[in-house]
Amino acid sequence: MRILVTDSYEAMSREAAKILAGQIWLWPDTVLGLATGSTPVGMYRELIRLHREEGLDFSQVTSFNLDEYVGLGPEDDQSYQAFMHAHLFDQVNIDPARTHVPNGKAEDIEGECDRYEKAIGEAGGIDLQVLGIGRNAHIGFNEPDDHFARQTHRVALKESTIRANSRFFEREADVPRYAISMGIGTILKARRILLLANGREKAQAVYDAVLGDITPEHPASILQFHPQAMLLLDREAASLLPERSKV
Ligand code: PGA
Repeated sequence: MRILVTDSYEAMSREAAKILAGQIWLWPDTVLGLATGSTPVGMYRELIRLHREEGLDFSQVTSFNLDEYVGLGPEDDQSYQAFMHAHLFDQVNIDPARTHVPNGKAEDIEGECDRYEKAIGEAGGIDLQVLGIGRNAHIGFNEPDDHFARQTHRVALKESTIRANSRFFEREADVPRYAISMGIGTILKARRILLLANGREKAQAVYDAVLGDITPEHPASILQFHPQAMLLLDREAASLLPERSKV
């Protein structure tokens, strides 16, 4: 894994946006895997700036989001579909028909998972997948488990994730208990992976991902197997890594 440590959240976000923008400038019809949560907000802000001020063109880009809560749709403010519209899709010239987020309101959730996995394949696979990381080292909503999930699937969220995500909801009881998430297998198929992490509370998860045993108990540790995975961190998230592992 390549590990790049930046001085601050802002610097991490700028570097991440540069990597995505480079991908789009080189391959305008690239397929991006996108993430939600607090971590990528600064990166999206910078991408919007690059679109407005430097003509970064999203018109041929295709995107697939990692996950969505079961039971929430675009009209729900807390849905990841709504998040993506607010933080990126509505502010750049991406074609809405080329953006994909799992349908958390599908009647047949298992069928929706299969459909989503197939759609990624039909688009030619993901060229560059952006990831955040949970405090428990989850990626997407792939929670610590006794196995690595192969495909897009329905997951039961862990109490710790529900607690962490309750900051986006009025009450903890409002946080959905289930989500649809790309599997670890889906994520590993991406040609390149860019994982972002900032803040002291992610330092242990980052350490486990980079230097821990490869185990489904720390889902991000599987990235050690990926030939083109890069971690872009701020200093606090990198604080438990030994100097020699940073580039
Ligand atoms: P965060 O979430 O960016 O809101 O910290 C990351 C994650 O849980 O994957």
